[in-house]
Amino acid sequence: MKQKHFLQFRDFSADEIGYLFARARVIKDRFKRYEKYHPLVDRTLVMIFEKASTRTRLSFEAGMQQLGGAAIYLATRDSQLGRGEPVEDAAQVISRMCDIVMIRTFEQEIVERFAAHSRVPVINGLTNEYHPCQILADIFTFIEHRGSIAGKTVAWIGDSNNVCNTWLQAAEVLGFNVHVSTPPGYEVEPERAGLFGTDHFEEFTDPIDACRGADLVTTDVWTSMGFEAENDERRKAFADWCVDTDMMRVARPDALFMHCLPAHRGEEVAAEVIDGPQSVVWDEAENRLHAQKALMEYLLLGRIEG
Ligand code: CP
Ligand code: NVA
Repeated sequence: MKQKHFLQFRDFSADEIGYLFARARVIKDRFKRYEKYHPLVDRTLVMIFEKASTRTRLSFEAGMQQLGGAAIYLATRDSQLGRGEPVEDAAQVISRMCDIVMIRTFEQEIVERFAAHSRVPVINGLTNEYHPCQILADIFTFIEHRGSIAGKTVAWIGDSNNVCNTWLQAAEVLGFNVHVSTPPGYEVEPERAGLFGTDHFEEFTDPIDACRGADLVTTDVWTSMGFEAENDERRKAFADWCVDTDMMRVARPDALFMHCLPAHRGEEVAAEVIDGPQSVVWDEAENRLHAQKALMEYLLLGRIEG
């Protein structure tokens, strides 16, 4: 059977994503009751980081330990990957010594090449193009608060980055709509986003229009990791793309606010919004743990009954 990986959101069907949400619920409830659950005893996760992380590292490392396995952290700068060892060779070696791999890196092509030479499942822990684990947790969080996301409207305000692209893929897989508003020159690139079409998103010049009637308003940093050289230029271009109370006011009265974090108050989001009553950012961050435990369990053990 072909090895399964989670390199972009659309690698999984709606049915598989639905299964993961159901498992995340079970795993989270058990965790909250302090019930020991060790299905991954003797399994090892290797986590390769080429970029900084708080949530991704913590949720994968803690998650693997809580499932009874072990996690090893590899930073490129102190491994041979940082000295030019080919990704294909690293994949061959690393995947003979562990059971599952998570990679945070730059181009999507790097995780694709790693996966093509890996004997074990590979998870994308963020690339320049996608952040599938984030959106898994975000939609699980939406469902916890509001029920099914099918047919709902998500407003994305700001940069059409890795997190935005993944929302757009998820909209195609799960059947919801995304209203996107970016400054000119930062629009969605459907091919880079890995979309099948343009049916599930609509672009708006004015961010207020994108937020109108939305069930969820979400944003992310103006400058993603790896694009720091564009910081000054982006600060100017994105100045009017700060999610504030005026934007939240035109969304549905029960609209949620999400941000993958880390956030910059006063830049992409006003403090009153991220720290306000509609914000679910802490649940969203916590759910990285539960959703990724379900993901690792599925990739290593397949479907579990009960
Ligand atoms: N949201 C997210 O992936 O956070 P980290 O960069 O801290 O892992
Ligand atoms: N878009 C951001 C997400 C950080 C979790 C970045 O890539 O830096």
